[in-house]
Amino acid sequence: PKLDVRFDVAELVRRVPLFAGLPAERVTTIATLLRAQLALPGETIVRKGERGDAMFFIASGAVEVLVPNLAEPVTLGTGDFFGEMALLTRQRRNADVRALGYCQLLVLDEKDFRRLVQKDANLQSHIQAVAEARRQPTKSS
Ligand code: CMP
Repeated sequence: PKLDVRFDVAELVRRVPLFAGLPAERVTTIATLLRAQLALPGETIVRKGERGDAMFFIASGAVEVLVPNLAEPVTLGTGDFFGEMALLTRQRRNADVRALGYCQLLVLDEKDFRRLVQKDANLQSHIQAVAEARRQPTKSS
């Protein structure tokens, strides 16, 4: 029998705290914008210096962010997101992000990101606040 690797995107969306509290109708709408992607152990998902055209939400698993100037990689897990900085600043990826094991990701393409944050001020300010904290060299998440 063939292995079925399709995911229920709406179910994965609920694992992300940023979306979990939203009404079912909003979750359905957001789910249509997100694409499920499975990252393999050790896979580099985002590469420093590349142009960013999407951000990622972790529905399950963990990744490590190799932050330049930080001795230790920063670990992000289920419910966290990454790849938002390039979209917010329109600069290139500032770190490598690597899957620590199998990782179920939800990918939000840049054009959908712009539409989504334009319509949802809370979402926008939350993502901005997280990005801002990550820019502080003393803070890791
Ligand atoms: P971006 O620059 O698009 O691609 C690399 C990503 O790594 C970046 O977005 C953030 O999502 C993430 N990142 C960069 N620095 C940190 C940090 N100090 N802590 C956690 N995540 C980070």
